[in-house]
Amino acid sequence: MTDSTKISSSSLNRIPAEILCAQDYETLAQRFIDPTHYAYISGGSGKDLTLDANRIAFARRSICPRLLRDVSKGSTALTLAGQPLPHPILLAPVAYQTLAHPLGELETARAAAALQSVMISSTLASNTLEDIAQQAGPQRWFQLYLQPQRKITLDLLRRAEAAGYTAIVLTLDASIQIPSQRALRAQFCMPQHCVAANLTGYEPAPTDTLSHNESRIFQGVMRHAPTQNDIEWLLTQTHLPVWFKGVLHPEDACLLQSLGAQGLVVSNHGGRTLDGAPASLTMLPAIRQAVGCDYPLLFDGGIRSGADIFKAIALGADAILIGRLQLYALSVAGALGVAHMIRTLHEELEATMALAGCATLHDIRATKLLRADDIS
Ligand SMILES: Cc1cc2nc3c(=O)[nH]c(=O)nc-3n(C[C@H](O)[C@H](O)[C@H](O)COP(=O)(O)O)c2cc1C
Repeated sequence: MTDSTKISSSSLNRIPAEILCAQDYETLAQRFIDPTHYAYISGGSGKDLTLDANRIAFARRSICPRLLRDVSKGSTALTLAGQPLPHPILLAPVAYQTLAHPLGELETARAAAALQSVMISSTLASNTLEDIAQQAGPQRWFQLYLQPQRKITLDLLRRAEAAGYTAIVLTLDASIQIPSQRALRAQFCMPQHCVAANLTGYEPAPTDTLSHNESRIFQGVMRHAPTQNDIEWLLTQTHLPVWFKGVLHPEDACLLQSLGAQGLVVSNHGGRTLDGAPASLTMLPAIRQAVGCDYPLLFDGGIRSGADIFKAIALGADAILIGRLQLYALSVAGALGVAHMIRTLHEELEATMALAGCATLHDIRATKLLRADDIS
């Protein structure tokens, strides 16, 4: 029996009674995901400093309840870069989803379609973008990693266009990742069944040989990292809107905005790249201020509840992406679990809005959060 069949037989076709809130999927998933795979998914880079910072940043802020506000016409609807959406919960690109469920992204796509959520499908998905598109709703975006050969990048772009993806999200912050000590200690290695299905048909890039005085990092791994020139090129190659993901510095945000980005994703990759980078939430207000109040900004990193979504919107996000929680819910109950997780987050957001006296996402943006210690 392979790893994947073991997981298949244990994932449920009902929502377990232990799930009382969206974050409960994080704990319960440990019963459904192989422990070494769980270490890879849950871990951040290095010693998890940034992973932890993402959660601490949410805990440091609190929401003051408001009284006597009429929220009886309340709604979480928004228009994101011209697209109407019923709620601000999108699914972040998360690679190799067959680590959590044998059908991986196919189940996630079905859940996103049912809940009218945008799914952002990863270049490193373990199903092809064409197969995912068959299960996905009309709101499907494709996350692109630039490939060492431009002709492969271009081919991925054309395939995404042909499969009906409506936006491209170019991830810029992960050309190199500091290895996760948690995953190393658990001796994680990618199981054979789990491959980057979008890339299997391409010839691998010729391996660069380094001379003895060249650096494995600078002249090696970073040789193919995206440059401004690559971005200018990419923007001329597609009619689809292009978002950029992995922005943490306001000056980078302004540069990408000036180059023609549709919008940005404020993100530190869920704490999986530079260990010691600030929490995404910490950088969000300065980025909002730098790009102006109407420029489309998405946010991810550490969101585990509807109250977290409220806080991210209050600090400047238009909408948010869910990363790890989607894999956790996927492992527990496939598409049903992911759909339930999105619905639960949505209800948690609505309840938080009601208690904070906010009838719309605009009202949230006008809300000032308190520092948690101000009210302790
Ligand atoms: C297992 C795993 C795989 C990921 N794969 C990708 C990817 O392929 N592309 C990408 O842009 N981000 C990827 N990310 C980062 C997520 O898109 C997102 O930024 C992050 O998970 C948000 O933090 P959260 O998990 O706390 O919600 C991955 C994250 C995890 C945990």
